Amino acid sequence: MHTEAKPDNPDILEVERVKKTYRDERGLFRTSGETLTALNGVSLNIGRGEIFGLVGASGSGKTTLGRLVLHLESMDAGSIRFHGTEIHSLKGAALKAFRRRVQMIPQDPYQSLNPYMSVYDTVAEPLIIHHDAAKEKRSQLVEDAIRAAGLTPAKAYFNRYPHQLSGGQRQRAAIARAMVLSPDFVIADEPTSMLDASISFTIFKLLAEIRKQRGVTFLFITHDLAAARFLCDRIAVIYHGEIVESGPAESIIRHPQSDYTRALIDAQPRFSFMKQPHFREQT
Ligand SMILES: Nc1ncnc2c1ncn2[C@@H]1O[C@H](COP(=O)(O)OP(=O)(O)OP(=O)(O)O)[C@@H](O)[C@H]1O
Ligand SMILES: [Mg+2]
Repeated sequence: MHTEAKPDNPDILEVERVKKTYRDERGLFRTSGETLTALNGVSLNIGRGEIFGLVGASGSGKTTLGRLVLHLESMDAGSIRFHGTEIHSLKGAALKAFRRRVQMIPQDPYQSLNPYMSVYDTVAEPLIIHHDAAKEKRSQLVEDAIRAAGLTPAKAYFNRYPHQLSGGQRQRAAIARAMVLSPDFVIADEPTSMLDASISFTIFKLLAEIRKQRGVTFLFITHDLAAARFLCDRIAVIYHGEIVESGPAESIIRHPQSDYTRALIDAQPRFSFMKQPHFREQT
């Protein structure tokens, strides 16, 4: 999988010295305005078609960075450029186009899917919101997205509801929803943390397949170095809002330079089945 690393490709995303602080509002009467630094000058570049892993422990700032890249929150300083354009300056039609091109795969397929919506309606909704396709074309796009997410035969899933799906199938439905607009950049924030290891593995294979078939670029957020090693071309390790090291996934995990990365490696439960060479060759 790593042979497809494309660090030489033009960068699709450039994050430069991004800072984000939150007001610490814990404590009912605390009004002193203490701030918490979630990101303290983060820089990273992601090449087109790459799967880039952002790896760090809980609270290190991973989701904050994902939310800033999705333009869901404002930053205090720095710059985030998508295809060379500063995203926080986008407005109107350009902002709408950005929201189409950048999608997110949610963490928890149990929470993220509307229990009252069928798989068909769930996947069709982004097309309707974005007025993306004529009605006749819509059903074909929905069917293609469901099939590409590995729910086959796709039509058999059209009228199913979330409670009729397993966790893995739910996450595939969420992936179909994210992919139906043909985004070129997708953020997957801990997309398998609610699934067991073997199902997680099938979802990773699906993401790799989507990258291969559609050339989608991924920012894959995880606390799990084994998963990052399996899936990612390059990774950045984040600790307390700062990138401590970044580079090709394999070399960082084999030869970590930072004490923090070493501690993270030592703390990992081993996904031993993923490390077996024959398992990786199959993918
Ligand atoms: N809306 C918010 N208001 C205040 N503090 C926040 C907010 N969002 C995040 N934080 C704080 O910013 C820091 C980084 O949080 P973030 O959610 O980005 O971490 P994370 O790496 O995604 O963690 P996890 O692995 O648990 O998801 C944490 O200290 C968190 O408490
Ligand atoms: Mg998070």
